[in-house]
Amino acid sequence: MKAVLLPGINESLQVVDHPEPRPDEGFALVRIRAAALNHRDVYIAQGQYAGISTPVIPGSDGAGEWDGRRVLIDPSLNWGSDPRAQGAQYRILGMPDNGTFAQWVSVPVENIHDCPAHLSFEQAAALPLAGVTAWRALFTRCNLQKGEKVFITGIGGGVALFAMQFALAAGAEVYVSSGSAEKIAKATALGATAGVNYREENWDKTLRSMAGGFDVVIDSAGGDGFAKLPALCNSGARIGIYGGTMGKVNGLSPQILFWKQISIHGSTMGNAADFAAMLQFVNQHRIIPVIDRVFEMEAVNDAYARMHHSEQFGKIVLRIS
Ligand SMILES: NC(=O)c1ccc[n+]([C@@H]2O[C@H](COP(=O)([O-])OP(=O)(O)OC[C@H]3O[C@@H](n4cnc5c(N)ncnc54)[C@H](OP(=O)(O)O)[C@@H]3O)[C@@H](O)[C@H]2O)c1
Repeated sequence: MKAVLLPGINESLQVVDHPEPRPDEGFALVRIRAAALNHRDVYIAQGQYAGISTPVIPGSDGAGEWDGRRVLIDPSLNWGSDPRAQGAQYRILGMPDNGTFAQWVSVPVENIHDCPAHLSFEQAAALPLAGVTAWRALFTRCNLQKGEKVFITGIGGGVALFAMQFALAAGAEVYVSSGSAEKIAKATALGATAGVNYREENWDKTLRSMAGGFDVVIDSAGGDGFAKLPALCNSGARIGIYGGTMGKVNGLSPQILFWKQISIHGSTMGNAADFAAMLQFVNQHRIIPVIDRVFEMEAVNDAYARMHHSEQFGKIVLRIS
């Protein structure tokens, strides 16, 4: 089969002829038609991820065909029995296990789900990892309620955009941040009330004056910007954090956290129940993932470069020939 191979850290990706996977018991072979990138794939290629093993076929997101059906894949493997957190055996499809950037992938049968009928293969491939991460952070962890006010940082990101689409569909009012005025304009066109540029010095004060306080904040940046979030929160607010793009947080005030009774919820991916609930919500509200660009499999290095430079608005998809 044709597959994208990451030969080693900091090496270019190659499209190679690779032996088809042989499924173990309880696994099935899915013929992938489209796959999508996540920042995880870029971090792995750059050596910035725990426990990297190469060579590997990357890719956590895929949609295609199995058993005569159009399907997509839940990339969470071996979550374990505790719904509060994944167990020690937890893995994400696409390293160490070979992933979806290939014509065939072997996955547990229970991780295969029917593709929402209103989505193309490209749109469905965009959904799984980012969709379940957004779902768990927003609903399972932060318990978002209709009518609440939500702030989502870095709206160009794949997870952030799903969080916005889900929050809007749930009847929340959404504000966003981005490093790009163009991306803020695209987000408002999709239903966000307004946004601020996190590169501007007083973005937090601007946001406070335009929006007042927030009930839920969804962040993947961390860093010093995170320390400004509690002051933007209403009493009893919940902050969901699922990424750490900007590194460690300096200057976080404990007083604001305890006085306003703010909860900070770390969130990672989602279990089978989160995934099923997310899919049901996407079907019910006919949510269509925002696709930035579709690349042919052969242009995979261009796709990685686009994500590395944060040029995207929405998901970057690979068409698997
Ligand atoms: N815990 C989990 O389960 C999980 C799952 C998925 C992702 N993640 C992590 O979450 C992060 C985002 O992942 P992704 O796949 O959505 O990546 P992505 O699509 O590449 O999005 C990254 C976004 O981060 C935003 N950003 C950069 N600097 C920022 C800053 N100073 N303040 C606020 N936002 C900033 C940018 O937004 P603009 O383009 O709008 O400026 C960029 O588009 C990564 O660190 C990833 O590892 C974690």
